[in-house]
Amino acid sequence: MSEAPDTHPARPGGLPSVALRGAAQVLLPPKPGLAHLRGAQLNAQTLEPGSLSVRDGRIAALADDPIAELAIDCSDCAVLPGFVDCHTHLPFAGWREREYEQKLTGVPYEEIARSGGGIRSSSRALRESTDEQVLAQATDLAAEMLAHGTTTFECKSGYGLSREAEMRALTLARELEIAVPQTTTSTALLAHAVPDGFSADEWMGVVSEMMGEVLSAGSVTALDIFVESIAFNLHHLEQMGEIAAASGLMLRTHLEQLSCMRAIPVALAAGARSADHLSQIHLDDIPLLAEAPCAAVLLPAAEFLGAEQRAPGREIVDAGAIMVLATDANPGTAPVVSMPIVLGLAARMYGFSVRELLGAATLNAAWTLDLHHDRGSIEVGKRADLLVLDGPAERIPYRFGHNPVQIALIGGEVVYVRDEAAAERLGDV
Ligand code: NIG
Ligand code: FE
Repeated sequence: MSEAPDTHPARPGGLPSVALRGAAQVLLPPKPGLAHLRGAQLNAQTLEPGSLSVRDGRIAALADDPIAELAIDCSDCAVLPGFVDCHTHLPFAGWREREYEQKLTGVPYEEIARSGGGIRSSSRALRESTDEQVLAQATDLAAEMLAHGTTTFECKSGYGLSREAEMRALTLARELEIAVPQTTTSTALLAHAVPDGFSADEWMGVVSEMMGEVLSAGSVTALDIFVESIAFNLHHLEQMGEIAAASGLMLRTHLEQLSCMRAIPVALAAGARSADHLSQIHLDDIPLLAEAPCAAVLLPAAEFLGAEQRAPGREIVDAGAIMVLATDANPGTAPVVSMPIVLGLAARMYGFSVRELLGAATLNAAWTLDLHHDRGSIEVGKRADLLVLDGPAERIPYRFGHNPVQIALIGGEVVYVRDEAAAERLGDV
């Protein structure tokens, strides 16, 4: 580990310097400067004892700072980078618990969707909710996410299903970013379900026409599309790739979720930054995905709660893909916001090691959002988005359902302290 900074910062009114002292484990990448971790690089991350110092909101040294203004006693704890949840559908309106009961009793998702349930019912709920109601629900969920260690997350539109309502959803996503302590990104999921009164082809024409408005919304970094028999096809995926490229936006994709469409080669040719779901990926497409600069985003909560086919997660990692884990937080397939739950599911469902889980939920997820230069791993100069757990990292999947997060920092500021025991770890010096 490198040396501690040797001069005390003079920073009247600025952020206090912080020392995270004497951790049992600090998660470090195999070496600094990696954009993402493929295959064996995930298990080459280390979880060794150590301390960190933070100045001006950034990691200043992988060592103690004896003169820090705030010291956090991390003995017996793991210190991790904050979780990056790179696939959520916030902000949305309401929930769909009755539909979940239908699914439990055997009604297939396609049938629920065709009969006006699914995405359409969340679209109605969004229309019938005020901006304040949508933001209140999303703000509460963001607080729950923070308590579970999520320090950065992605928002998606997609429940608007009209030009105006999609723009409203993107505006609400930007307002959410201002309201919560986390950094959020906005993805315009403009092809989620085919809006009433349009064919899929006609709707793609509207998507193309609305790009000027989407870009002037100012905060959108990616487009997204749901490629599925009940939604958009491979030609629409190609078109979305062209629109994204012409607009300078990343392309995210929902694909191979409910049926195998052989969408991977098309998504890669379209320059997709990520291929998400992959439950039904054809085994012949794994090598293509594994070689590409495209994240393989696994969503185990959607697979588990939707009784979907299980993605070949082990094969995807072993082939060398940039494997990512995310919640898919949405009112339909995954009403789950906890990354520790997602990691616990992924460990059991795909057979991942703890280091594989952690790299997938931090640096690889940050790469998916193009934020890896700034966060996602514990490296000098990166933003001090850090978690102090209540035990070793190996307990995350093992104590399934337990929330291990005691303390969370965003940009060097303590933004979450779980309880009195956690508060006792904080000492002004
Ligand atoms: O990521 N697959 C498409 N979209 C969401 C589900 C949307 C919904 O059912 O509300 C997903 O699983
Ligand atoms: Fe999704």
